[in-house]
Amino acid sequence: MTVTTPSQPGLPAGESRSADEGVRGRGRHSTFLPEEVVGSDDEPTTILIVDDETNVIASLRRLLRHEPYRILTASEAGTALETIRKESVQLVMCDQRMPGMSGTELMQRVKLSRPEVVRIIFTGYLDMNAAVDAINKGEVFRFVTKPWNDEELRLVIRQALEHHRLLRQNRELLKQVNEQNRELRQLNRELERRVGVRTRQIRQKSDELRASYFSTIQALAAAVEVKDPYTRGHSESVARYASLIAQAMDLTGHHLEGVRVAGILHDIGKLVLDTALLSKQGNLEPQEWQLVREHPQVGARILAPAVLPWPIVPLVYHHHERYDGTGYPEGLEGEAIPLGARILAVADAFDAMNSDRSYRTRLTPRQILVELEAGAGNLFDPDVVTVLLTLIKKNLIGL
Ligand SMILES: [Fe+2]
Repeated sequence: MTVTTPSQPGLPAGESRSADEGVRGRGRHSTFLPEEVVGSDDEPTTILIVDDETNVIASLRRLLRHEPYRILTASEAGTALETIRKESVQLVMCDQRMPGMSGTELMQRVKLSRPEVVRIIFTGYLDMNAAVDAINKGEVFRFVTKPWNDEELRLVIRQALEHHRLLRQNRELLKQVNEQNRELRQLNRELERRVGVRTRQIRQKSDELRASYFSTIQALAAAVEVKDPYTRGHSESVARYASLIAQAMDLTGHHLEGVRVAGILHDIGKLVLDTALLSKQGNLEPQEWQLVREHPQVGARILAPAVLPWPIVPLVYHHHERYDGTGYPEGLEGEAIPLGARILAVADAFDAMNSDRSYRTRLTPRQILVELEAGAGNLFDPDVVTVLLTLIKKNLIGL
């Protein structure tokens, strides 16, 4: 700041006012000042001047007499602190040299008790170290050397009040942001809670629906087994073996469940066959054999209209295909046969070998292993057979 003599030093003793005698300028909303330098709508902008020299206070008062500020004064630090505690003050200006307490110390205390109050220190001598220190520590907004230039000081005061207004605005904005964040967090928690409740309800409904599907499927499988007592438990066993093989072949989700469900329903087409034919001992006549060979298509036709969450119709339709293309109904070969159907074919044959049938007793474990190995690559997908043999070796499937 340019160092000049105060333009009108000194004041008659009668004009000196104490802190309790706050005076106002021409009005709160001077037409000479933009709105932003005045206080809030309900209170005037208040400046507290602290100096033990009455002529300095008088000069400042004169300097600001046409400004829309309420001026409070104090001649020492104790009164100043008391005033700041009681009054709404936006700016405090004090002398660096005062009896009892330095200006910097006073400003430190003001900063502690009312950090939002902007602080300006006057000093009669240029102590650069003290000025730099006070500004760096955030104690003061400006360090003004006496004597001052009136116009420049008015500008500094306006800047200080603008600084105060911006700080207040920032605090308000921060408060609003914090409040909005708090509301958002609350909304978020409520949303998470509702999503959690809804998810649990959906999961429960889904489980109920799934259980309902399975009970219907098991009822259908039971209908087949009622007609053919020799295959009792066969559907469940095929489903279990097929499911273990599918899992070992890394099938997951609907594909894995589809293999299991198709295992339960794979012979659903036998519902249309006579019980006598199903339990016939000995060889079938060609015409009878033709009827039996149709059960995959019949099964697929029964299941096609059903809306199920698993892709099981192709698996039921192709479960009698052979890897070398000699199976039925389509004579598909190798990987043209759906993987689930290749798994079912092995599981079906394995359970048939491993249980008594109307036309023969169960095979020995050795015979079963020989049959499986002999069938790999022609009757069965060799990879599926390898997986089954591994599961048998690991005792996950018993003979
Ligand atoms: Fe079958």
